[in-house]
Amino acid sequence: MCGIVAAVGSDNVLPVLMEGLKRLEYRGYDSAGVALVEAPGRIGRAREVGKVAALERVLAAAPLVGMTGIAHTRWATHGQPSQDNAHPHVSGRIAVVHNGIIENHLALKAELVSDGFLFTSETDTEVIAHLVEREMRSTSSLATAVERAVQRLDGAYALGVIHADEPDRVIGARQGSPLVVGVGEHGYYLGSDPLALLTVTDRFLYLDDGDMVIITREGCDVQGLASNGGRVPVVRETVHYEHDDQAVGKGGFAHYMLKEIHEQPVAVANALEGRLGTDRVLVEALGPRAERLLAGTRQVHIVACGTSYHAGMVARYWLEELAGVPCQVEIASEYRYRQVVAPPGTLFLTLSQSGETADTLAALRHARKRQDGDAYVGSLAICNVPGSSLVRESDLALMTHAGPEIGVASTKAFTTQLTALMLVTLALRQVRGGDAELTARLVHRLRYLPTLLGDAVALDEEITSVAGKLATYRHALFLGRGPQMPIAMEGALKLKEISYIHAEAHAAGELKHGPLALVDETMPVIAMAPMDGLLEKLKSNLQEVRARGGELLVFSDPESGVQSGEGLSVVTVPACCHYLAPILYTVPLQLLAYHVAVARGTDVDQPRNLAKSVTVE
Ligand code: G6P
Repeated sequence: MCGIVAAVGSDNVLPVLMEGLKRLEYRGYDSAGVALVEAPGRIGRAREVGKVAALERVLAAAPLVGMTGIAHTRWATHGQPSQDNAHPHVSGRIAVVHNGIIENHLALKAELVSDGFLFTSETDTEVIAHLVEREMRSTSSLATAVERAVQRLDGAYALGVIHADEPDRVIGARQGSPLVVGVGEHGYYLGSDPLALLTVTDRFLYLDDGDMVIITREGCDVQGLASNGGRVPVVRETVHYEHDDQAVGKGGFAHYMLKEIHEQPVAVANALEGRLGTDRVLVEALGPRAERLLAGTRQVHIVACGTSYHAGMVARYWLEELAGVPCQVEIASEYRYRQVVAPPGTLFLTLSQSGETADTLAALRHARKRQDGDAYVGSLAICNVPGSSLVRESDLALMTHAGPEIGVASTKAFTTQLTALMLVTLALRQVRGGDAELTARLVHRLRYLPTLLGDAVALDEEITSVAGKLATYRHALFLGRGPQMPIAMEGALKLKEISYIHAEAHAAGELKHGPLALVDETMPVIAMAPMDGLLEKLKSNLQEVRARGGELLVFSDPESGVQSGEGLSVVTVPACCHYLAPILYTVPLQLLAYHVAVARGTDVDQPRNLAKSVTVE
């Protein structure tokens, strides 16, 4: 998804901007650009389709130099990836970079065209550049012009704006798209993600929706939105970003995704750290309001997108069985537009790696509005990014502590979300007075989970060999039952997003109600068969596949009795208690997708058309 970097420094800021763009590459994009105030009255701009490296080649041939600049990676929404559509967009002496979507851009464009402005792109962003330029006709202040322009915008935006005649400042603004201010020793910066700026600072101000900011070499001036629609100076706290710079390198692995798969034992241990007592979950360690929130919870609505949604689907099985609370799980883009009936005592639980997914945030805001009317007991976010919008806007946030996840295909974020969800499930069970013996057993098993995950990661080599064959197919079916059904969905999602093999997942019991029609020797079927109460039923489903010539790849544990044979390969996953098996079985599926993608030669870390953090609807 689009990324923004901006800087006002005491030296040429081009290297900082380019490094920032590289650090944002993981989000997914299709073109990149940069604009610098090269001298009072002159803005230099370069834009290129493709990777940041392509823009670097352009800049090597025709360098830009300046102490104030803005830069952008674009993920196409309005208009195809092309040089004309790439940001920054220029109007007169203004240049603008923008993340988000301007919903009323067509109406604004009609107005601006009739005012004589010439459009050179198909983007929604270009209206912002022209609006600011038009406002500059009646004010000499760029900040005032931006302030007036944003009043006309409907939709979501994070902006960086420069003016040729104001060489020492960048104006930023946010509404519905993230933007942070970086506080450096030699200047001030803007970034859509703090990761972009970690080479120059680890101190950040997180802007709120509606905020505008003026950054200069010496400081920043944040203006909040007053209740009368005007501007008031506001103070946003400067937060120290805890990071280990190692965490954003590949650490000797061929891809970020492989590194992040291998990090899961440590990531899950971090997610558990300080949250388990001898025989129980330390509810008080989940946050200051956790006990009260959970005590009032009568049912749970889980809302998320993509991989995070699959984590929620697993949690439904846990919450109903272990905590005895009804649970519904829904994709955020559906939930936010539905007339949801939330009975009193509904806990609104969001799951998000980034904490910036537009639909998930919108669903939270929708629920918060209704919270005033008592429908919801409160909101809980399970999230990986401290300081993200979701974390700041929820009543309670439980951090997953997975560390930066760079690969677009989510891996350690998912297993740590599941771990956090199990903690919440057990905490609810405790608060509701559930039998303590099973809780204690699960707490002990959770402690051992990082070790088991280490054993699952060690299947890497074995899975490389089965992946070679799977890479030759065009389609694949994934099957699971119970909480392994969403794991099958996650396995199919991983495979399709990075290898581009068409993959579908089904509850194994549904096979004969449709998907079985697809099964023949060209359709491999991947099934999760842990030792649980549904194993025998699953084995019958596998027979149905074999009888139609379907090639089977089964992930199973040592005691399940599923044997390799003609048309059936078994990968043995370490034995594990059936409640935690969904977390464990995720790992071999991630490895499978990874090695199939490598065998097919795709761009594993930045799959085509996808973005890491989807900040537009
Ligand atoms: C994008 C990413 C997925 C992610 C989904 C939800 O589609 O590519 O990996 O699962 O967004 O993101 P979130 O940050 O809310 O978990």
